[in-house]
Amino acid sequence: MSPRLPELPPDVFPAAARRVMARCDELARVTATPGRIERVYLSTEHARVNRLAAEWMREVGMTTSQDAAGNQIGRLAASEPHAPALMLGSHLDTVPDAGRFDGIVGVLMALEIVRLLRAPHADGWISPLPFALEVVAFSDEEGTRFGKALLGSSAVAGTWSDEWWSLTDADGTTLREAFREFGLDPGRIGEAARRPDELVGYLEAHIEQGPELDRRGESLAVVSSIASARRFQLVIEGEARHAGGTPYDMRRDALLGASEAALAVERICRGEHHIIGTVGQLEAFPGAVNIVPGEAHLSLDLRGEYDGSRDRVWDEISADLDGIMGVRGLRWHAREVHNAAAVMCAPLLRDVVREGILETLPRGADEPATIFSRAGHDGMAIGAITDVGMLFLRNPDGISHHPDEAVSIGDVSLGIRALAESVLHLAAEHR
Ligand code: GLV
Ligand code: MN
Ligand code: MN
Repeated sequence: MSPRLPELPPDVFPAAARRVMARCDELARVTATPGRIERVYLSTEHARVNRLAAEWMREVGMTTSQDAAGNQIGRLAASEPHAPALMLGSHLDTVPDAGRFDGIVGVLMALEIVRLLRAPHADGWISPLPFALEVVAFSDEEGTRFGKALLGSSAVAGTWSDEWWSLTDADGTTLREAFREFGLDPGRIGEAARRPDELVGYLEAHIEQGPELDRRGESLAVVSSIASARRFQLVIEGEARHAGGTPYDMRRDALLGASEAALAVERICRGEHHIIGTVGQLEAFPGAVNIVPGEAHLSLDLRGEYDGSRDRVWDEISADLDGIMGVRGLRWHAREVHNAAAVMCAPLLRDVVREGILETLPRGADEPATIFSRAGHDGMAIGAITDVGMLFLRNPDGISHHPDEAVSIGDVSLGIRALAESVLHLAAEHR
């Protein structure tokens, strides 16, 4: 088997890219909120996109199953029945008011890889690959519903924690109850776990979610590592009192403490640490115009290339909050809801992604870009059981987690070619 794709009719990749874009539009219509895209874990929309994905998996010849964590899986066996699988994929869940490509494009591109690699070609070069191919549509990467990200991929990695069962969504539904409502049995979560010896690796294509490729004027990049992340829910406690009758020297205003905390996060993260911190949620209680806020809740998301600097920044923020709250007569505490170590992409998978991208470039072109991912991905969890590699696609203006999120059909077409070439280079290494 050649480590390269043969000459194919010129429209093969653009046609695949057109199908991917049309399906991104189709999935965007599966939303909980008309006019906006929102699709969260264990919702009716989750069930609907799994059914669509399963249909498309069967169309390219895969057998399908939904695992014990609601991940939708397609499998194309190798000629050797016990051969391990190369897992391809990404996620189908979204943030609130999402774009249509984050995660989704990676699942749909993976299906096009399967279609390409098993299509009969004139010189009959294709399968058997030395490994099975799996496409996984992960069910919860974003953590939108329960605050804890990577639930789907953590189940596959066998790193599910029983502490998560009591997490609640905004309506007070626990994760355990949501499992049952979706038709899943919490007692069987362990069945979603995969063993390292079943897998040869995990490869994911994803939009960059930042401006680097757009600024460089390049379509595709090799990902070197995925950022380390921690998320917290912070509670600040003061005292609720009458807005008119309470003089400033008697106020213990929790919202003002939270506001100073958000500014401290920015000030500290803008320092020398190369950590990005975001306060994306802020709520005051009891939430009336004529009451000094007695309690405030805020979220904190910290990302960085290295776990150590991320943790030092959290320590610095904590010390700063002690000071801020002390001066204002407030108390504060934090609950950690997500902690994911940085994941380095495996040298072999980085290499095959690089080879794959080079196949799309003119001979003698510069080396493809290598980028560290500031965004989180399912590979952060899957890295616990197998090697991870990622391919980034240019994201115009770097805008993501927003309805204007975009990717060009030309870049998707190049990305499909690069990913297919990467799989063949990996196959050549495995023979
Ligand atoms: C997921 O997209 C994340 O990085 O938060
Ligand atoms: Mn996302
Ligand atoms: Mn994503």
